[in-house]
Amino acid sequence: MPLVDLDTDRLRSEFNRRPFGVHHDLERHPAFSLEKLVELARRLPPEAVEYNAGDLPLTQDPTTTPHTGLSIEETIRRIHECRSWMVLKRVEVDPTYRRLLDDCLDQIAPHAPGMRRRQAFIFVSSPGSVTPYHIDHEYNFLLQIRGQKSMTIFDPAILDETEIERFYRGEHRNLVFDESHAARGHTFELTPGHGVHVPVNAPHYVKNGSEASVSFSITFRTPEGDRRSAVYIVNDKLRGLGLTPRKVGALPLVDRAKYFGYALYKQAQRRLRA
Ligand SMILES: [Fe+2]
Repeated sequence: MPLVDLDTDRLRSEFNRRPFGVHHDLERHPAFSLEKLVELARRLPPEAVEYNAGDLPLTQDPTTTPHTGLSIEETIRRIHECRSWMVLKRVEVDPTYRRLLDDCLDQIAPHAPGMRRRQAFIFVSSPGSVTPYHIDHEYNFLLQIRGQKSMTIFDPAILDETEIERFYRGEHRNLVFDESHAARGHTFELTPGHGVHVPVNAPHYVKNGSEASVSFSITFRTPEGDRRSAVYIVNDKLRGLGLTPRKVGALPLVDRAKYFGYALYKQAQRRLRA
């Protein structure tokens, strides 16, 4: 049971509505030593390792993110000094990390009906590095393993619907940070043993403290979340036709109709390809 003192009342009332802190006991687990992470990075396919310079502004155009010229292995070994940001993706392909992911998410599953597509990511970042402002598709719990980072999370309501639709259209996760919203963020100071729940589409940015940091991100999807994603895709297409669609969640029956229309369209597409 890696998530300790899990507040089930809070999970029931706040899960995917607002961010909240959790505690875990993975901070001394040997799977997260730098040596083990080097071994893991060697085993993962190259496309599962993304890394770049870590001293970035909060708003970063993904097409101009600077690279460091270091190898994956050098980046991890020299993470204390190489001013880098790295993510090891889909680490659940490795049985050790799969087990850790499942042990954590089995504790959350009773509160997330239909939990599916469990995936895990490990972030390895240098002192002072920044993860620019962005949103994610998945339900997420970010567990801090070593070092300190502060994560500032905002309510998705501060975003314009078109910003979320662009992301569901397939554009990069990074967003433009609007300074006028700065005071509306909730900042969580994460140290080893602490974690935070990030609701789907809750925009956030992360700033590392003065030491190298390792974080374990455990994510999943649900049928409800996937239905909402489909409605964003439909709304994006409607907007492309010059219409002004209702906000996702404003009229549940309209959302349902859009979702069923989308599901039928996808089914027809699959049949045509078969
Ligand atoms: Fe994120």
